[in-house]
Amino acid sequence: MFTLGIETSCDETSIGIIKDNRVLANIVSSQIAHTRFGGVVPELAARNHIKILLPLMNLALESAKVGLNKIELISATRGPGLLGSLLTGLSFAKSLAIGLSKPFIGVNHLEGHIYGLFFNKEIPEYPYLVLIVSGGHTELIFVETEFKYRTLGRTLDDACGEAFDKVAKMLGLPYPGGPYIEKMAKEGDAKKIRFPVPRPGRFNFSYAGLKTAVLYYLKDHRDYNINDVAASFQESALEHLIQVSKKAIEYTGVENFGVVGGVSVNNRLKEKFQKLAHAMGFKLFIPEAQFCTDNGAMIALAGLRRYKRFGPSDISVDAVAREPLELISKN
Ligand code: KG4
Ligand code: ZN
Repeated sequence: MFTLGIETSCDETSIGIIKDNRVLANIVSSQIAHTRFGGVVPELAARNHIKILLPLMNLALESAKVGLNKIELISATRGPGLLGSLLTGLSFAKSLAIGLSKPFIGVNHLEGHIYGLFFNKEIPEYPYLVLIVSGGHTELIFVETEFKYRTLGRTLDDACGEAFDKVAKMLGLPYPGGPYIEKMAKEGDAKKIRFPVPRPGRFNFSYAGLKTAVLYYLKDHRDYNINDVAASFQESALEHLIQVSKKAIEYTGVENFGVVGGVSVNNRLKEKFQKLAHAMGFKLFIPEAQFCTDNGAMIALAGLRRYKRFGPSDISVDAVAREPLELISKN
């Protein structure tokens, strides 16, 4: 089944085209307009999505070598995310579905990230745990079986990617800062500065304290070494993910564990989780980089799976700023 996936929950506009679970095109346009503001400006994001959606879709169709008339299902992110941004993609998708007389499905963005795992050759077996680490989310989800989710823990303040972005900003690095921190960290010594590893308890996460510790360090050390700060911060931020995940894997006894979302592109994160997988004996799943960060293909696949099980969404489906995965378990 040819499925078109539309992702506009934040500052990335993306269109993916899949046939069953084979990716024919996955094109992402990252908005550079936010760089000079050091973060996403919601109004600007929505305006840019509107401008780029149609040409991007045409580019994706061309690259997939598929005519619009071949598309059999239209899937779009309905939330969580920035409302203005979500509404642009959702309205575009609905208009397309009505115009082409094809079914439409609204997808939860977090469920989309989880389906990023399903483009791999080997896919996780149920039940599994998945850690979603992105700019907007840090959540640990127990997936009992397909579409049946239980959130074990989430961040109490900043998301992990958000902390990377904010620390990068303090260091004068461009937005989004995650990739720049990783690059700087490569030349630094992670043991030079002892930033605290957060311990908020249970399976929750917290990045506000670590972020503040970096801020104070920079204030107290005007001649700081940017590489050492990046490396030491990155190590504590990732160690936090490892410690909470380890507890949750022990608690649930799962044999399969996935990491998805923008931060899972980070090579040090991969190294640390591979080491943990080896020590604990679980199977680790991390998507290929293009399916880790926000992309249309993951939304297409999540939409297709949900459509096959539950049928299309009502065309009146609205955008939602927040939506825990538990709430969509039954559709
Ligand atoms: O999943 P994503 O594209 O968008 C959201 O749903 O938020 O994730 C974007 C986040 C940003 O915070 C970005 O800085 C972070 O992922 N990120 C990274 C790396 N690449 C992207 N963080 C750490 N290391 C990276 N290499
Ligand atoms: Zn995302």
